[in-house]
Amino acid sequence: MKVFITGGTGFVGRFLAVRLMKEGHQVTILSRRAGKSSQQGGARLIQGDPVEKGPWQEKVAEHDVIVNLAGASIFRRWTKRARKEISESRILTTRNIVDALSAQRGKVSTLLSTSAVGFYGGRGDEELDESARAGEGFLASLTRQWEAAALEAAKAGVRVVLCRLGVVLGPQGGALQEMIPAFRRGMGSPLGRGKQWMSWIHCDDLVEAMRFLIARSDISGAVNCVAPFRVTNREFTKALAQALGALQFLPAIPSFILKAAMGEFAGVLLEGQKVVPKKLLDAGFVFGYSKIGEALREIVTKRG
Ligand SMILES: NC(=O)c1ccc[n+]([C@@H]2O[C@H](COP(=O)([O-])OP(=O)(O)OC[C@H]3O[C@@H](n4cnc5c(N)ncnc54)[C@H](OP(=O)(O)O)[C@@H]3O)[C@@H](O)[C@H]2O)c1
Repeated sequence: MKVFITGGTGFVGRFLAVRLMKEGHQVTILSRRAGKSSQQGGARLIQGDPVEKGPWQEKVAEHDVIVNLAGASIFRRWTKRARKEISESRILTTRNIVDALSAQRGKVSTLLSTSAVGFYGGRGDEELDESARAGEGFLASLTRQWEAAALEAAKAGVRVVLCRLGVVLGPQGGALQEMIPAFRRGMGSPLGRGKQWMSWIHCDDLVEAMRFLIARSDISGAVNCVAPFRVTNREFTKALAQALGALQFLPAIPSFILKAAMGEFAGVLLEGQKVVPKKLLDAGFVFGYSKIGEALREIVTKRG
């Protein structure tokens, strides 16, 4: 199988590419940073900015599967400029892929496009499976548009799967990359009231879920990619401190401090979603890491 990945140089993309190549698949990664004839661990890198139309679009139709992971980091203050970059790097990228597929579908059967549980907005204790309505706010509105852009590929006869990712936990990148050093310095505290839900997934499970979704041609539309057992922020903080053997039960950081320091982005940390991976479970997907303690212990051990 030939797989084309946007954002394949990132945290999730690197894991996915390695796993696919181990199975003998050919991987092409689109990157703004690629040089001429560069490679990433055996994957072919091609140069191009997915936000811009360009010669890279002609390569899309040569592949069987497209995985769309590109997107600028949301972990910063959402200034006007940051919002533009966060939105365009997802929505324009997706539109450019769909334009390429509409011009020439070639052999592409499947578009696996990323989305996020931020789609649901802050929803308290409500259990959210894939049929739940979209929420409110910048991220919810962005993910709605991101998903809508991807779904347009169905008009070209391509199966579209929208992977709504929870917080991805892994040894080399993502949220833990920022959190572990802080916890090791004794600065791991619950955020706000600590009661907000956190829906997470171990990176190994995410990669397996993506492979599963590529293989299962009967599944399309939104799929919640989160572990079956969600945790509150307080439970997560305790589990991470335990996995690291770090100090526990530090006082929580008050919401107003987070809001003052981070502006609207603080909402991502202070509001959560209790997301259910209904489609994956109904389809028989088996998670390697269902519980947060075992996932964090494995990651901390691997990371050293
Ligand atoms: N990690 C998580 O916990 C999580 C949770 C929910 C959703 N997601 C979503 O899943 C996707 C992959 O996540 P990740 O953690 O692997 O992300 P990542 O490590 O930040 O990598 C994303 C990739 O997107 C490309 N990119 C960054 N800024 C861009 C820009 N301004 N314009 C165009 N391309 C840009 C980069 O590729 P080049 O520099 O090579 O071009 C980068 O390697 C993202 O869309 C993210 O929003 C992630």
